[in-house]
Amino acid sequence: MTGPADPAKRGWFITIEGPEGGGKTTQAERLRAHLVATGRPVHLTREPGGTWLGERVRDVLLARTGDAAGAATDPLTDAFLFNAARRQLVSEIIRPALAAGTTVLCARYADSTLAYQGYGAGVPLDRLRALAEVATDGLTPDLTIVLDLPVEAGLARKAPDDVTRFEAEFDLAFHRRVRDGFLALATLEPGRIVVVDASRPIEDVAAAVVTAVDARLPADEPESVGLRTTR
Ligand code: TYD
Repeated sequence: MTGPADPAKRGWFITIEGPEGGGKTTQAERLRAHLVATGRPVHLTREPGGTWLGERVRDVLLARTGDAAGAATDPLTDAFLFNAARRQLVSEIIRPALAAGTTVLCARYADSTLAYQGYGAGVPLDRLRALAEVATDGLTPDLTIVLDLPVEAGLARKAPDDVTRFEAEFDLAFHRRVRDGFLALATLEPGRIVVVDASRPIEDVAAAVVTAVDARLPADEPESVGLRTTR
């Protein structure tokens, strides 16, 4: 038996990552529908955000500064703020949901900080890993889908009113480093991270995501002892 009545079991933790314009929101919604149809309770959330505090931190982080040259915000400051929002999301939403046997689907998580503030903006990865370790108490996704596509194609897909500081004030070279960063992370952790070609039509991408998830996640929830945490 699984779910809340069985403390030895917990829900799956799945994150959806990638450069700009890969369709994370759409694909997360599609994957949620698939998982619900297979009988799993699912909580869908996003970063930065997902909590009252997180949504406010999101507003601060994504607001355009008007500085077209960028670099207005120190990237380590960004990393602290993303991790502050992450801390609240993990403690308020993600851990309780997993403990209740609910699958958590999160659009962006700690890999985004490594890709954007690390590979993109140059903060050393070991410092970012240490920050995320503190913020999450070591909670690592069971599975991460990287929706990958060329940077130009992704940026072109963004609606004008959906343009944040990261699209408006960081150049193409930054976004190329971000994309390459996600691909490098996938190479480092092939057991956790699956790269899906997101340059294809929505239906094809959705099918590839479902295939990846069904292949990696067996029918049973993971043992809670397998919850990768250091504390
Ligand atoms: P959002 O509009 O949600 O982007 P997307 O729709 O592409 O997910 O804005 C989130 C932005 O914040 C995006 O540009 C990536 C950036 N980001 C970081 O730089 N570091 C992080 O740790 C996270 C979670 C997001």
